[in-house]
Amino acid sequence: LNLTVAPNGGNVTSPLQYGLMFEDINFSGDGGIYAELVRNRAFQGSPVYPSNLTAWKPVNGAVLSLQNLSIPLSDVLPTSMRVAASNATVGAVGFANSGWWGIDVRVQKYSGSFWVKGDYNGSFRAALVSDITNETFGSAVISARTSSSKWSEYNYTLIPDAAAPNSNNSLIITFDAAAVSGSSLDFHLISLFPPTYKDRPNGMRVDLMEALAGLNPSFLRLPGGNNIEGDHPPYLWYWNQTIGPLKDRPGRPGTWTYENTDGLGLVEFLWWCEDLEIEPVLAVWSGLYLDDTVVSNTSLQTYVQYALDELEFLMGSTDTPYGALRASLGYPDPFSIKYVEVGNEDNLNKGNGSYSSYRFPDFYNAIHGAYPDITIIASTVAVDPFSENASGDYHQYTRPDHMVGQFDFFDNMDRRHPILIGEYAIVQSNEAGQAGVSWDEARSSFPFWIGTVAEAIFLIGAERNADNILGASYAPTFQNLNKWQWAPDLISYTADPSQDVLSTSWHMLQLMSEVRITETLPTSGGAFGPAYWVAGVNDDRGSHILKTAVYNSTGDVPMTVSFNSINAGTTANLTVLTAPGAYSYNDIGSDIVKGNSTILTASSAGAFTFYLPNLSISVLEVAGT
Ligand code: AHR
Repeated sequence: LNLTVAPNGGNVTSPLQYGLMFEDINFSGDGGIYAELVRNRAFQGSPVYPSNLTAWKPVNGAVLSLQNLSIPLSDVLPTSMRVAASNATVGAVGFANSGWWGIDVRVQKYSGSFWVKGDYNGSFRAALVSDITNETFGSAVISARTSSSKWSEYNYTLIPDAAAPNSNNSLIITFDAAAVSGSSLDFHLISLFPPTYKDRPNGMRVDLMEALAGLNPSFLRLPGGNNIEGDHPPYLWYWNQTIGPLKDRPGRPGTWTYENTDGLGLVEFLWWCEDLEIEPVLAVWSGLYLDDTVVSNTSLQTYVQYALDELEFLMGSTDTPYGALRASLGYPDPFSIKYVEVGNEDNLNKGNGSYSSYRFPDFYNAIHGAYPDITIIASTVAVDPFSENASGDYHQYTRPDHMVGQFDFFDNMDRRHPILIGEYAIVQSNEAGQAGVSWDEARSSFPFWIGTVAEAIFLIGAERNADNILGASYAPTFQNLNKWQWAPDLISYTADPSQDVLSTSWHMLQLMSEVRITETLPTSGGAFGPAYWVAGVNDDRGSHILKTAVYNSTGDVPMTVSFNSINAGTTANLTVLTAPGAYSYNDIGSDIVKGNSTILTASSAGAFTFYLPNLSISVLEVAGT
């Protein structure tokens, strides 16, 4: 290839470009990025997933049971855990929690709390203990005088003297059996947090936030995905049940086979955005459940108002009812919402066309009327019937060959409507006779290299049209390797941060997102395939850039690239990512992506010459230009 990059004539790139998508799937909120270490801390349940004692075990002969007491901790958390000691029990009695498939113990400050009810004058002991050796790594003693007539909250901190060798550890809380002999104490909302990202209370796991920060994202699409929709009535994602003190959050049955605690709620999502300095792309419920139940035209106004209330809660002055509610919870300063998506995957044949006939128009008109500056995104790309000003959301899960075939998809899009690529991923390998994904077949466990290269080509296609693409986010983002519902995922993990898996696609995105083109430039001198590229400048970095991915070449692709106004002797940095095999992938303890950076010098004609191997992703950046 002999490419000449034109000095102008391209298009200005959307400021979002690369971002994140989050929904609680794969134990990615509870058991994932939400740093709470205690699993099932408040025995939350619903008719779908009734309250249970998962993750709890008695210690020293205690008998654990669920109780709905006449004095509950709160109206929304009616079920607590009774810990009964028999007359024969001597010494410390209590309960253990095994965490989200283990608890990571290191020498750092853990902050805990619990509520208790029952007559007791003594002390509690909280300890982090090995499940295998019974070794105690750290403990705290909490003096207490509790009563059977009310719930009392206790806080504690715990700093282990030593790190545990693995995450097979439990939190154990005990009390003096003699002081309650033959009787019992009731416990609720038993919590333990490690240090969190940027020290947020009720915050996020540091390693996973750092993995996200490493992607240099610009936005976070939240809180779904399917999870905002709810499986069936009445279990939509109720924003106003995810705010305020934890004891006032009921939780809900999520759409991914488990109850959500909603400890990671609306405000925590906004903090997440603040901490990564990224824009929220806030999804509001659009009147459609996953079982295809649709809210009728006559009843929809309630939900439109519900979305407006959510926006007032986030952005309204403290003189408004919901702005005042926000201030009363401790956040007087408004958040900023510039992007709102109406629903998730409301493609037009779902809900009998109701999205186009009344649901989207009603939401659009109300939100646009109240907040004309907000970019409103339909959750489909078939936005035509709605409004000239609406954006759309395109999702693509497929196989490598098919995704590479979509390289020019965005060249041919309806340019009246910018689109978000809210979800995409290669989920299955190439297979003869299979163009797209087969949903009834197994998907790959992890992103794999040829798929990652195909994703890069798809994204290069998007970058070439980046004036009309709001941004792109891989989905799903997270996977707890102990239990999950959807693979492949961008980042996988266990309780032990040393086991984090940054996938092949994570590495590709890190490179693509780190070096941003702010204005594309046309190129001439070659046809796409097996190399696919986009060229442009980055006005902030003052650089010229060429991003290239090579797919199915028979050998190295020779590249000569000349940029206007680049003189002989100018240097450029070329970073090339490769991997040992098309279907190689990252797993716990292995990282197969190889990054190689070299400095190139421009020839007398101002051109850079280099070779790109098959299945490579590269960025050439000429700084100071
Ligand atoms: O990312 C997994 C799921 O795929 C999302 O919840 C849904 O939007 C899509 O179908």
